[in-house]
Amino acid sequence: MNTTHWQTLYLNINLATMADGSKSYGAIEQGALAISHGKIAWLGKMQDLPAFDDKLLTIVDGKNQWLTPGLIDCHTHIVYGGNRAHEFELRLQGASYEEIASAGGGIVSTVKATRQASEDSLYQSAFKRLNTLHQQGVTTIEIKSGYGLDTKNEIKMLKVATKLAQALPITIKRTFLGAHALPIEYQHDSNAYIDLVCNEMLPEIAQLQLADAVDVFCEGIGFNLAQTERVFNAAKQHNLAIKVHAEQLSDLGATELAAQYQALSSEHLEYLSLSGVKAMANAGMTAVLLPGAFYFLRESKLPPIDLLRQHKVPMAIATDANPGSSPLHSIQLMLNMACTLFKLTPSEALAGVTCHAAKALGLGQRCGQLKIGYDADLALWDINQPAELCYQFGVNPLTALVKKGKQVI
Ligand code: NIG
Ligand code: FE
Repeated sequence: MNTTHWQTLYLNINLATMADGSKSYGAIEQGALAISHGKIAWLGKMQDLPAFDDKLLTIVDGKNQWLTPGLIDCHTHIVYGGNRAHEFELRLQGASYEEIASAGGGIVSTVKATRQASEDSLYQSAFKRLNTLHQQGVTTIEIKSGYGLDTKNEIKMLKVATKLAQALPITIKRTFLGAHALPIEYQHDSNAYIDLVCNEMLPEIAQLQLADAVDVFCEGIGFNLAQTERVFNAAKQHNLAIKVHAEQLSDLGATELAAQYQALSSEHLEYLSLSGVKAMANAGMTAVLLPGAFYFLRESKLPPIDLLRQHKVPMAIATDANPGSSPLHSIQLMLNMACTLFKLTPSEALAGVTCHAAKALGLGQRCGQLKIGYDADLALWDINQPAELCYQFGVNPLTALVKKGKQVI
């Protein structure tokens, strides 16, 4: 085997390859991994390592630590103005998330703060959140808009998301979520707002190449099925991928609809039905589960995890980091909650923030696994077994982070 193009070689490492969401982490103990031009060029057992010239490459002694793919947070809303601590207090006094939203609080109050914020101040606050996730091993993230709710402010949010990609070595996928909530100026005419989303916002955002996907919050406090379908059609016309916030508070059948439109993913899913699960399986969709929102809203209905398993629907896990339902900017906490609240195995939880998260972003052939030809996005952890990444919380075991072959932490 020709190894002269290898540039970096990690020796004495244990690999959690997460190959194709395999059980038991796809583990290879006492392994090695070689990088060439930002891609994984070889991986396997130390004993199978081909001959190489140590003068031609950088050798890193992994000291028996564990190497995983760089983590992927595939559902966030980290660009926003203000915060909703006051609403948190109201909820503790008995008001529900839906009651607060119906009384003009909730998403709409973040819209007010986001509209008032300058592009620069949104950038500064989002940078801190992004950097926090980065320090925990995140190398790829999805950021949704949806707190602007008019053309100018949705564009402002997506510009901030685009700019963040230059600030840190993180791949950023941007999702246009204009249909997140009804802005006050359209309070009595939701169809007219959907006209604006489909006929003005989406075409302009597509033209400016500010989004990779389109999302809709299909819910009683969001948009109905017919409106959701209109947005999906507009997304399709502009060749943008489709995602949906679905069955979070009730089962409206948005997942079945999304399956008809070959959506990448359906997200939240506490109220997902068996027919929704089957539709996802048939359409090859990924279920994005958000234990932070489940926890923070004190939801008691669990997503149908067993059905998703039985029907082999890949389950991704994400922070849903946002000011209202999940002000939690920790991927490690999500790994823990995926196990403790949703009863995923640690291997399933880790697949949820690596290979399945990549699939939810349409990046399943590029990152999220340790595999030859994949991006060399790697996280090195000072742990004795991969389950520790889910088991403990609050101590950061990350010792190195590599993005496209370059060590960045
Ligand atoms: O994913 N479900 C809708 N959207 C967000 C909540 C946003 C907010 O409350 O600000 C979510 O939970
Ligand atoms: Fe969300």
